[in-house]
Amino acid sequence: MPRELPCETSVREAMTAFFDQDTHRIEHTLQVTSYAKELLESFPGANPEIVVFAALLHDIGIKPAEEKHGTSAPRFQEMEGPPVAKAILAEAAAGHAVISAVADIVGHHHTPGVVDTVEFRIVYDSDWLVNLPDVYDLASQTSTELTRIIDQVFLTNPGRTRAKAMYLPSRKGTS
Ligand SMILES: [Fe+2]
Repeated sequence: MPRELPCETSVREAMTAFFDQDTHRIEHTLQVTSYAKELLESFPGANPEIVVFAALLHDIGIKPAEEKHGTSAPRFQEMEGPPVAKAILAEAAAGHAVISAVADIVGHHHTPGVVDTVEFRIVYDSDWLVNLPDVYDLASQTSTELTRIIDQVFLTNPGRTRAKAMYLPSRKGTS
């Protein structure tokens, strides 16, 4: 895929502007997007625009969820994210089908199985590549336990392979 998609700069800049000073959120989002682009190489049939824009906007509902509901709990992120994602993509002149598919992913990104598309699975796994050490205490897992966790959590084999390459080497000799 081209390194930079049409509209990608506009969407990325809108995301960083929306998150304002929240550098942690912005860095997380850019990291997830970088993994999504990497995983895309293993899925030539996936739509790169949907994957990259959904990665850039997957957490966009966190800010309005915190402002309106006082919590960034997954169900409020999923409720508040799609309208913001749609507005940003419409402003960036993305196509209707892309906007709709991205909004679906943003609205279910903590709920695997509802949107069962390859683009959803790539974004979901990219988020987990970043979040795994925050959710699980990796240092306390044996290699066998960590392998089991990765096999369960990730939805794609390229995602599992990448997670094992990233996180299993540090566990060598502890199983
Ligand atoms: Fe995320």
